[in-house]
Amino acid sequence: MTHIKTAVFPVAGLGTRFLPITKSVPKEMLPLIDKPLIQYAVEEARASGIENFVFVSSPDKPALDDYFRTNFWLEDHLSSNNKTDALRLVRDASLSPKSFWVTHQTKALGLGHAIWTAKEFLRNEAFAVLLPDDFIHSDRSAIGQMIEAHARIGGNMVATMDVGRDAISAYGCLDVEARAGKCLNASGMVEKPSPEMAPSTHAVIGRYILQPSVLDKLAVTTPGAGGEIQLTDAIAADIAHNELWGYEFDGSRYDCGSKSGYLEATIAVALDRIDLAPALWNSMLARTEIGAAA
Ligand code: G1P
Repeated sequence: MTHIKTAVFPVAGLGTRFLPITKSVPKEMLPLIDKPLIQYAVEEARASGIENFVFVSSPDKPALDDYFRTNFWLEDHLSSNNKTDALRLVRDASLSPKSFWVTHQTKALGLGHAIWTAKEFLRNEAFAVLLPDDFIHSDRSAIGQMIEAHARIGGNMVATMDVGRDAISAYGCLDVEARAGKCLNASGMVEKPSPEMAPSTHAVIGRYILQPSVLDKLAVTTPGAGGEIQLTDAIAADIAHNELWGYEFDGSRYDCGSKSGYLEATIAVALDRIDLAPALWNSMLARTEIGAAA
């Protein structure tokens, strides 16, 4: 049994980097092969024992709510036609109505504001946050790895990886004081620093385990980087009460908020699937040979 029961998924963004598809398909519903991005994040949370799922969406995006609800007609149809594999896939993609909630962020005021919007669903206990854009391909659920470490050391915890100085200004950045195995103890955290001002090259990746006191900090957090209410600032303000840890997870992370990252993630998932990998390898090899011969 995990001590973390609830996960928040902020999915209210407009997905402007993926226009025009995001005119009608929300970014988190874009597929990696045959499952939407959001389902990978939900499965990662479910694999770690999380039981409650809170989606911070926007009122003009009904697709996510529809997706996780049971589709009785489809299930009946598949069941009466003995399509058991398809039926299993459809059932796996549903959440019990008692285990998921959709709340709405009506103004794009930033990630911190999105998490604050979910406060009424968060009891007085630590909770997880997963940003579905950060797809983590791993043998063991990345948030599950963090939950295990968190059970030992507590505090606030963020996933981290070294992205190098050139890329750090696209991320939250940890001011690392000390290391204990995969856990980095941080004395501060700053959102999107310039490469020169960045205290390290340890970037925050979109997985968090947060204490409820971060919600109190969010209530009084003023707009920061980019004029938005930043989750990073509230976590940094909570350091006086809770230690801050970066956790270096095992797995490959893909930035599915960018087209190249999304494409790489699609290929990584395909190469991991027995039904798709041989055809993809053959196709890539054939193209490489054609390229080399030209
Ligand atoms: C958000 C967070 C940032 C974090 C990043 C990870 O930024 O604010 O601290 O490093 O996610 O993907 P965004 O990518 O939404 O600008």
